[in-house]
Amino acid sequence: MCGIIAHVGDKRALGPLVTGLEKLEYRGYDSAGVAVKNGNGLDVWKCSGQVSDLKDTIDTVESSATLGIGHTRWSTHGPPSDENAHPHTDQRNRVAVVHNGIIENYETIKDILTAEGYEFTSETDTEVIPNLIAYYLDRGNEPLAAFKHAIADLEGSYAIAVVVDGNDSIYAARQGSPLVLGVDDTGYYLASDVPAFLDYTDSVVYLQDGDTVEVRADGVDIVDGNDEYVQREIEQVDWQPDETGKGQYEHFMLKEIHTQPTSLQKTIEGRLDIGGERTNLDIDMDLTSIDNVQLVGCGTSYHAALFGASLLNRCDVSARAIRASEYDLNTGTPPEDTLFVAVTQSGETADTLGALRQAKEAGVSTLAVTNVVQSTAAREADEPLYIRAGPEIGVAATKTFSSQTVMLTMLSQHLARVNDEATRVDNIDQLLSDLQDLPGAVDGILQSSNASRLAEKYLDMNAYFFIGRGLGCSVAKEGALKFKEITYEHAEGFASGELKHGPLALVTDQTPVFAICADDCEKTVTNAKEAQTRGAPIVAISPSDHRIVDTADEHLSVPDMHPVCSNLLANVQLQLLSYYCATELDRAIDKPRNLAKSVTVE
Ligand code: F6R
Repeated sequence: MCGIIAHVGDKRALGPLVTGLEKLEYRGYDSAGVAVKNGNGLDVWKCSGQVSDLKDTIDTVESSATLGIGHTRWSTHGPPSDENAHPHTDQRNRVAVVHNGIIENYETIKDILTAEGYEFTSETDTEVIPNLIAYYLDRGNEPLAAFKHAIADLEGSYAIAVVVDGNDSIYAARQGSPLVLGVDDTGYYLASDVPAFLDYTDSVVYLQDGDTVEVRADGVDIVDGNDEYVQREIEQVDWQPDETGKGQYEHFMLKEIHTQPTSLQKTIEGRLDIGGERTNLDIDMDLTSIDNVQLVGCGTSYHAALFGASLLNRCDVSARAIRASEYDLNTGTPPEDTLFVAVTQSGETADTLGALRQAKEAGVSTLAVTNVVQSTAAREADEPLYIRAGPEIGVAATKTFSSQTVMLTMLSQHLARVNDEATRVDNIDQLLSDLQDLPGAVDGILQSSNASRLAEKYLDMNAYFFIGRGLGCSVAKEGALKFKEITYEHAEGFASGELKHGPLALVTDQTPVFAICADDCEKTVTNAKEAQTRGAPIVAISPSDHRIVDTADEHLSVPDMHPVCSNLLANVQLQLLSYYCATELDRAIDKPRNLAKSVTVE
């Protein structure tokens, strides 16, 4: 949902700004822009389209400016256009602003400023900010004071970076949208996310909500929400710069699918004690009285939550997956002995944070299963449980789904062990040892999958259905989401048994049905046959010796492991299927239309 970047230091700013925007493009790709401070004023370049379009317009620019800001947009107020692209400036081009978030009272501010003679040229909420700062400058305030007055007038969520003509500082503020500060020997970076400046530095200060920051080439001042100067710790991130590039792969999505053996290895590292038949999760919380778990997330993370809830229920721990956007309508006040688990890759999804805050208000214990260290969910929950999957840049979540589900599997065993009345999942020793073998098994699928042939075979169909039961149902839903997201084809995922209660009316010989049979699935075989009888091609995703293979038209093979692992491997096959269909259709795989990775609006 928009990415912002800013740099001040010894080097020419355009380089780090454009590199930063390329790394942040997963947050939105409707328009891009930069503003730098030159000797005579502010230079602004911006256009609708992607960062590559912006690069075309500034390729020949020889700017020696060492201070600037940049933005990549996911539209909320006003469609993608040159006028609505950030940075936004006041009419005299004295102040330029980039913003991620939503200014809720922008109409009121706009009315007041318009009455005072300030003019607006875009439909965005953001444009009120440079004009508000200009308003305070016009009333004799110094830039820092003008910035602070303006911030105090804003309502809503924001990460903002500002440059003011004739001034050597960048001013920034964080309230409800992520903002991190990178530090190296030559200067400073501000960005929505660490990968934006990871090519330059891995030393990071995680800013807090309410912080305002003044950054100069020679130093930084941070003031907290209580108006006190504060020192915030500089932390080293353990992500490597090559983790944020495509490497040998054509797309980030393909790279992220292929690096799952490594990311899964990191998720489980030190957390499995096979001989002791236990998981070692470092959770500093008393979970003994928990007998009700709410797993809450959106999109792919919600599907991981469904997987986790299904597993917890198998262990006699009462658990429910809830869509974060529906949490307020669907829960009522959670009982005291509830554990709320926010499942969120980014840790910044507005719907999930809203549900987390509601649960905290109700006084229940909270955990955040997240990928991003120090993300808002990680900081606001009682405890973070990091999935350690490394940066995920492709908009379609792949490796993080695998790591989330493995994390939730380990959590379910942890809860079952600390909760005396719960039972461990069937074959706990097999589960733990198969989890350890999972990275290798994923590698096996990546080497042997025939998904690309099937993608070609089943192109140009009317719709695609994915069915499964139990754990397989969450995989079916995730398979369909991935498929529609990057191919733009109609796809639906549901519990196999539901097929005959309505969707069967849609089934024809132009609607392949992908049947996940990695688990207890005799009934799925029957449901698949019901579809086949109506002409639908059936693709089984199952171990090779499963009896569904005899009736299916095609087969994507998974090893016969513990159901948790076989289902996750089925998901890897479906990731590949979606990817290859989308390549056949020449889709923008890493940047599907209308989407953005981190959805910071409700
Ligand atoms: C789909 C996808 C989205 C996200 C959802 C939640 O591939 O990536 O559905 O899963 O927007 O995002 P997080 O996990 O960051 O809360």
